[in-house]
Amino acid sequence: MRGLCNGNYYLPVREILDIKPGDRILDVGCGTGEGSVMAGPGVEYLGIDTEPGYVEYATRAYGRPGVTFQHSDVHRVEASFTKAVVMCTLHHLSDDEVRKLAVRLREIVSGDVSVADPDPVESRGIQRLILSRDRGRYIRPIPDHLRLLGDSYRCRAVLTKDIPRLRLARLTYSLCEPLS
Ligand SMILES: C[S@@+](CC[C@H](N)C(=O)[O-])C[C@H]1O[C@@H](n2cnc3c(N)ncnc32)[C@H](O)[C@@H]1O
Repeated sequence: MRGLCNGNYYLPVREILDIKPGDRILDVGCGTGEGSVMAGPGVEYLGIDTEPGYVEYATRAYGRPGVTFQHSDVHRVEASFTKAVVMCTLHHLSDDEVRKLAVRLREIVSGDVSVADPDPVESRGIQRLILSRDRGRYIRPIPDHLRLLGDSYRCRAVLTKDIPRLRLARLTYSLCEPLS
């Protein structure tokens, strides 16, 4: 899917998380950095990914003051954040990895998290074909993704839509509020 899309599919997250000046955003599994589109004036953004080539590309293409990328796992990130996004990445993580991610996010992110992932139930036709060829080994119905975060976050799906421009995948976006 990479390369076919611009970062517009990240834009709903700006509204879902109510991103404002002063926010520090963590993007887990940032890929080639399109999520930096969320970082408006006064917003700091850190994208992390376990693929060094993606991080190098993202830094060259989108790096600027306040927008940085790190080759890192979420468990090694030491900074703190106000909000986080996990875009199209949960389907690469096992159940146990998703549960551990939720615990770690709860430690380093003070506010809400938005998880968005391709929706295998809502997808149709070519969207299903693309999903079936995706490298992710853990494509799940969205409620199953959200349930795995449930010990740390109260999650609800808030929006399902085609990726703007190309309509090659249908994403469901969620809002996950930290449990106290
Ligand atoms: C389908 S891509 C999505 C990239 C980006 N979020 C987007 O929507 O354009 C999934 C990304 O998750 C990254 N990834 C997989 N496991 C990860 C992990 N444990 N920690 C951080 N990133 C991971 C992959 O390297 C890949 O870049």
